[in-house]
Amino acid sequence: MASNRNLLVLPGDGIGPEVMNEVRKIIAWMGKKRAVGFDITEDLVGGAALDKHGTPITDATTKIALEADAVLFGSVGGPKWDTADFSKKPERGLLRLRKEMDLFANLRPAKVFDALVDASSLKPEIVKGLDIMIIRELTSGVYFGEPRGRHTNAKGEVEAFDTQRYTTPEIRRVCAVAFELARKRKNKVLSAEKANVMYTGVLWREEATKLHKESYSDVQLSHMYADALAMQLLRAPKDFDVIVTDNLFGDILSDEASMLTGSLGLLPSASLGAPDATGRRKALYEPIHGSAPDIAGKGLANPIAQTLSYAMMLRYSFDLGKDADMVELAVENVLKAGYRTGDLLVGNTDGVKKVGTQEMGDAIVKELDRLA
Ligand code: IPM
Ligand code: MN
Repeated sequence: MASNRNLLVLPGDGIGPEVMNEVRKIIAWMGKKRAVGFDITEDLVGGAALDKHGTPITDATTKIALEADAVLFGSVGGPKWDTADFSKKPERGLLRLRKEMDLFANLRPAKVFDALVDASSLKPEIVKGLDIMIIRELTSGVYFGEPRGRHTNAKGEVEAFDTQRYTTPEIRRVCAVAFELARKRKNKVLSAEKANVMYTGVLWREEATKLHKESYSDVQLSHMYADALAMQLLRAPKDFDVIVTDNLFGDILSDEASMLTGSLGLLPSASLGAPDATGRRKALYEPIHGSAPDIAGKGLANPIAQTLSYAMMLRYSFDLGKDADMVELAVENVLKAGYRTGDLLVGNTDGVKKVGTQEMGDAIVKELDRLA
């Protein structure tokens, strides 16, 4: 039976296919036990697409992504493609999707599970109960600004250049997402840039301030330089609620934030476009971790970030908040019960059960069974 929910699954490279396999078990469980079904198309992206089609994403796959209700994405890249031409690097497949689907708002929540306070490299009292949301601008800035490239300059030196560029609508639309989300949380937004050294930073701060005054004065807004924020995130992360920042700072700060939670293997993300006339947003869901080629194919990867990305999809693309809560609770309970993939085996490991990718996936499904 058609489900009216069209999902494109792109496992990609490295650990992507392994962790996606575990999510497939949860998708099957949801279909059977909760009647949450999807019409799934699966395709290649990244190095896998490059090997087969000579491009990190084909036009046909891009078209399917543009038409899908949501894209569930694994990860791309690996040393095998280090020598690929820059324009054909596996990462270009993901960047093309972000750009063509116009996924300007990247939501990267960082939450500390009680069971994992000891896995963080910070003291438990600094991170216990932490729940922040980083909103990273995803379709502009130095990732896409022109001109970019390399050439030999007049002195005969090789010179490479990228351009950091932002327009006022680009800044405003992502800040609006931050203010809207803050209203459903602790009503606090911190906007981060480098207004002390960059023109784009000055514009960013001006526009965030203007928009706040015009439409969101009920939300508490503050500003910080991105470098100072990097420090404050380690000193007192619980001071923050929603953080909004540009593409490159967001990339870096969200990796930093993941370490507050204990592992990069835990954090999901949602990349959203603007709502269309029917209120539907184009959307792509992916873990913030990469393809982890060092552990790929060994059954060691943590499937939780991919699982939580699926939960975000249920919540943001399909309005299935209850089902999303259930998946998140199952993950939390499995961690409480002591299941740990290798990435989580730091700090106090008394009484934990070391598991591989499949065992972790199975444990989550078993817990869903128990919760149902
Ligand atoms: C991320 C990744 C990507 C990025 C890469 C794979 C292009 O690091 O999603 O954070 O730099 O945006
Ligand atoms: Mn990154």
